[in-house]
Amino acid sequence: MVRLLLAAGHDSTTSALSICLHYLARNPDDQARLRAEPAKLRPAIEEMLRFETPVIAMPRTVARDTAIEGRSLQTGDRAMLYYAAANRDSAAFADADRCLIDRSPNPHLAFGVGIHSCVGAPLARQEIRVALEELLARTRSFTLAGPVAREFWHPYGLRHLPLHIEAA
Ligand code: HEM
Repeated sequence: MVRLLLAAGHDSTTSALSICLHYLARNPDDQARLRAEPAKLRPAIEEMLRFETPVIAMPRTVARDTAIEGRSLQTGDRAMLYYAAANRDSAAFADADRCLIDRSPNPHLAFGVGIHSCVGAPLARQEIRVALEELLARTRSFTLAGPVAREFWHPYGLRHLPLHIEAA
């Protein structure tokens, strides 16, 4: 449990923060909007995590025979829940492939769903918000300063994110 808390609480949050920084570095209008109106950060963070979801998928064991969308699953089958794919489902989100920072409602699955949904979600949301609030308040702008390197699997995010930061 301790290992799970430490691992789940570390790389997912740093990946999530890198995703937000990468998005804002590439979208100066949204960056300026959030600098002027930090109260909009909460919905913006939800949307950036929907748009690029750090924990792409988690496995499950099917507990009883069932059918989903016409496909039958037997007790004991293994299934992969793709939160990242669900978060781009056009049946659930209008303009699913666009990041709209004031999207509301935003029933995304970046923190999972059900009894095993992320126990650290409130902490993660607060860490990301405080980090972005402080960075936006202390800078005039930040932009990409070179090529980025992505981490494509668990958690998805940026391994290398060079930024040019102009202090306030
Ligand atoms: C942005 C950061 C984070 C993301 C995107 C994230 C995402 C997730 C997801 C998708 C799950 C699986 C939910 C499910 O199976 O339905 C999960 C579970 C979990 N997360 Fe997070 N997480 C983050 C931060 C954290 C933090 C900061 C902690 C702890 C301090 C944490 C601890 C856990 C634990 C213990 C579980 C397992 C819960 C269970 O199985 O009942 N996570 N997280």
